[in-house]
Amino acid sequence: MAEATFYFPRGFLWGTATSSYQVEGNNRNTCWWAWEQESGRIKQGHKSGLACDWWGGRWREDFDRAAEGHQNAHRLSIEWGRVQIKPDRWDEDALDRYRQILRGLHERGMTPMVTLHHFNDPIWLMEQGGWENETAVTHFLAYVRKVVEALREYCTLWITFNEPNLWVIFGYIQGTFPPGKQDMRAAIQVATNITKAHAAAYRAIHELQPQARAAIAHHYQALQPSKSWFPPDSWAAGFLNGILNDAFARAAATGVLRLALVRRRIPEAKGTQDFIGLNYYTLSRVAFDLRRAGEMFARRFFAPGADLSDGGWLANEPQGLYQAIKWALGYNLPVIITENGVNDAEDHLRPRYLIQHLHQVWRAVNFNFPVKGYFHWSLVDNFEWERGWTQRFGLYGLDVKTQARIKRPSANLYAEICQENGLSSDMVKRYAPEIFEMMFPG
Ligand code: FCB
Repeated sequence: MAEATFYFPRGFLWGTATSSYQVEGNNRNTCWWAWEQESGRIKQGHKSGLACDWWGGRWREDFDRAAEGHQNAHRLSIEWGRVQIKPDRWDEDALDRYRQILRGLHERGMTPMVTLHHFNDPIWLMEQGGWENETAVTHFLAYVRKVVEALREYCTLWITFNEPNLWVIFGYIQGTFPPGKQDMRAAIQVATNITKAHAAAYRAIHELQPQARAAIAHHYQALQPSKSWFPPDSWAAGFLNGILNDAFARAAATGVLRLALVRRRIPEAKGTQDFIGLNYYTLSRVAFDLRRAGEMFARRFFAPGADLSDGGWLANEPQGLYQAIKWALGYNLPVIITENGVNDAEDHLRPRYLIQHLHQVWRAVNFNFPVKGYFHWSLVDNFEWERGWTQRFGLYGLDVKTQARIKRPSANLYAEICQENGLSSDMVKRYAPEIFEMMFPG
């Protein structure tokens, strides 16, 4: 039987990713908290409540788990609404708490990566019109300066915005995220202001910390024309790709934000990424559909017989991650996989999903492509936005009532990978025997 180990480069970052609202609990001064109080917004009326109780201190035990699992990095986010209670009021205790949390990572030998905006805004910002109002740019800049000054001792890796594409689409086109709008003009305005805010933040971070590396965590959805020989499908896939995947990355590279026919020059955004943060979950087929103007004339679906996650939300399509990495390399920058994972309460799919995706990352590093790290989403089950507690992404399960953590087999698998700095055939045999033959034929 074939035996092999796929090794990763020395210094590769191995971690998990979380976001403040999803794990901290009691994040009351934010638009998501207000959104949760409205009926019908969150599946089954779920509430984030204490979430994973990190604000109550359980980050310690979860970081212990991550460190015992040989992870050497962790990506987390800062909650703007906690730090800046009002435009002119800062909460120094909250900043102190974040300092302790980052110090906690260092004490466990883990490198922090800090996201400054992960899908949430302070209530007071929403009351001023949120991201539709250009003053959001100035407010965000003040917040970023405050945070970077407070935390620069502990962190040099920064993400300005998490998945700005989804933030705009969900909040302003589909209306499933706050502020729940379906308004294309507002969406374009918000995309423009976010690009400006990113640019301002990037420059401020470098001014305050010359050795910093700052980027956006892009949500990349791999798209394939349903029938590659049928030009309308290729057109639809290409059109959607331009808006969904390219817009923000290109704006941060060139200083021009292009959303279909709209073109906004934002010269200060040019060259404002030190690496490409890549969040990858799945690949979809795309068919041209005239009836779907609101979805860029694209009907998206998974391949027949695809290996689906709970509720059919995601398909296990590892080659899409390779496609994502190739796309990212087009920007001539190092790449960090800032999120990748799957909703799988029973942990039936996760082991092979993890193995097959890391195999693709390994292929890339084996070609000497500069992929510098991998952050699995997520360490422990957390509050999954409008899906509430219905979707479970953790290496550890969470009993929301008791706060008990339940170790899934994937936590052991990931620990072995992190410890080995590689993925071995023996691990595949033990954790996902069903794909052994496919990965190691002969
Ligand atoms: C990503 C988000 C993250 C989490 C995962 C499942 O799009 O960045 O907060 O919701 O999906």
